Amino acid sequence: MRRKYGRRYEWFRLHGVGFTILPYVERDSVLSDFSALLASVKEGALLARRLWRNYVYGNYAFTASEMDFYLKAPAGSQIPYFNAERLGDPCRPIARRLVNPLTLELSNGSLARVLAVHRYPASLPEGFLYTLFSEASEIAIVFREVERGKAVSVTEVARRRRLTSSFSRVEEAWEASALEELATRVLAGSSLYEFYLLLTLIDGDLKNLSSREKRVKAIIRGYGIDSEAPPMQRELYNLSTCLGIFCVEKHYADSESIKALFPLIDEELHDSKGVFLGVSGTGSPVLLDLWSKPNFNYVIVGVTGSGKSMAAKVFLKRLRELDESIVYVGVDPESEYTRVAGLIGAQAVEIREGVKLGLDPLKLASSGAIGLGQVADLLIELYSIPRRLHGVLRRELFMNSDFVDSIVEFTYSVKDSDLSKHLQGATVPPDSLVYEGTPIALPSSVVFGLRNVRSKRLKAMISALISIYAYNKLLAKAGRSVFFVDEAWLFAETPSIMGLFENIARRGRKHGVVFMYVSQRAEDLARTPQGRAVLEQSATALLLRQEPQGLDAVREVYKLSDVELDFLANAPVGTGILKAGRKRLTIQVLPTQEELKEFST
Ligand SMILES: Nc1ncnc2c1ncn2[C@@H]1O[C@H](COP(=O)(O)OP(=O)(O)OP(=O)(O)O)[C@@H](O)[C@H]1O
Ligand SMILES: [Mg+2]
Repeated sequence: MRRKYGRRYEWFRLHGVGFTILPYVERDSVLSDFSALLASVKEGALLARRLWRNYVYGNYAFTASEMDFYLKAPAGSQIPYFNAERLGDPCRPIARRLVNPLTLELSNGSLARVLAVHRYPASLPEGFLYTLFSEASEIAIVFREVERGKAVSVTEVARRRRLTSSFSRVEEAWEASALEELATRVLAGSSLYEFYLLLTLIDGDLKNLSSREKRVKAIIRGYGIDSEAPPMQRELYNLSTCLGIFCVEKHYADSESIKALFPLIDEELHDSKGVFLGVSGTGSPVLLDLWSKPNFNYVIVGVTGSGKSMAAKVFLKRLRELDESIVYVGVDPESEYTRVAGLIGAQAVEIREGVKLGLDPLKLASSGAIGLGQVADLLIELYSIPRRLHGVLRRELFMNSDFVDSIVEFTYSVKDSDLSKHLQGATVPPDSLVYEGTPIALPSSVVFGLRNVRSKRLKAMISALISIYAYNKLLAKAGRSVFFVDEAWLFAETPSIMGLFENIARRGRKHGVVFMYVSQRAEDLARTPQGRAVLEQSATALLLRQEPQGLDAVREVYKLSDVELDFLANAPVGTGILKAGRKRLTIQVLPTQEELKEFST
């Protein structure tokens, strides 16, 4: 793409973010990125567009719109914002001919009309452009940074002109003070941009196009904006970066005031290789690809009966339909998943008390599955070792680990009689049975059901050891895989086990292991540092209905607004808020009839 005086441009694809329901701090950081993006390229064009696509899953069929975003920037630009990728042209239809001075015919047969905005109010709500997508197919901002010396004189002149005129309307006074502020910022070093805001309307016939134009003009007039379709449609449609010479009125904004025009808003979740989970608040399908997020942790929290396990099972089943090479390991304290393991392509293993399991922490340590420090943490918790003996235990473990190869042997080798007494429980059933024997083979995906293990302590202990064992045996080698724990609140009061889960989550990232953590009682999780870390460090979180204490916890961790809290307090089964990377949307999880039947408890 060449401009008259030889400047070359290339296209980048940008990722949109959720915006309208973000808390203010996060909005500010998004807007700072936006202004940094403009500053890093200095000139070009931003294009936001809405495309329509048909989507089908089982008995659900949708026509859903998707947003995509492009930046035309000087060739060779480096853009570390909004996941910019060099992906070539956005493949827009070509402007074929003028049907009349204000209407283009495009190469796909549809008609287009581009409106240029020519009057702005003193202030605009941030993110308002998103509301125009009900009518506009594309919104573009063509921009260029004004050279410093000129920027200062332009703002000075504008300010002087404003200050010497008298205001007949309140709006004018506002404009003047906005201009005053802008001038102050520019003098203090803020960049000034010359820009054009273009709205492209596309429709099949002229009459519809004209009614669209009327509607969109009415919407933006509500914001105090005026627009017109100028008789140079081809240049506007092509986002020519030298619009100034075509006599479209220039407008100026600095890096602060331009934030209101932030266009990279995408409130839907349509990850390209995503699993269909249900529909968003706007009725659009939600497609989630956990591997496209900054980390692979996925938390599902909600009160009992809010639809957590259903959401988890539906996700696992459909993920496997997309990619049957994915491996699962699940810890299932209530043996809910083992019942339907076949449907998610996993083998079910029911753990029973009184059976040897071969899960010796020292054996796990010698195979590298776990560090000796973690073995110590586990023993401290399992056998309530008093603080005064912690140092002794660690020392003995580090010194003896090369000479003994089981916890039972270790217990007998301990020299400190006080410590030895505390560890006696390890040498007799039920604990010794957990340690003795050989662990089960793990040929492929497996779900461990623990319903028959009655004692809560034993349940937690076996869950932890089995997780470590399975994780190392299977997941670290398997490429893409999912490790999931349901009823995870059972472990919330056992910090060493929470610590192990957190450790698995952290190590899993390197190996493509998704860590899916399903729990009621968000408040219990938020109370311990380890549980809190799990909540905070999950790029993806599905928040279902919460009761008051849970609401407090999720509000604090996810910085939810009052509107969102209200929504969660009253959310029907399967409905909630999905946070995925930088997006946040309301969602209704939709099982098919078969799934509802099979997965209901
Ligand atoms: N998305 C949904 N749409 C319709 N019905 C649902 C949905 N999710 C769950 N249900 C119904 O609600 C019941 C409870 O759901 P589920 O077992 O997922 O709850 P849960 O949050 O895991 O509860 P618990 O904490 O007790 O395990 C299911 O048996 C099913 O009948
Ligand atoms: Mg459940």
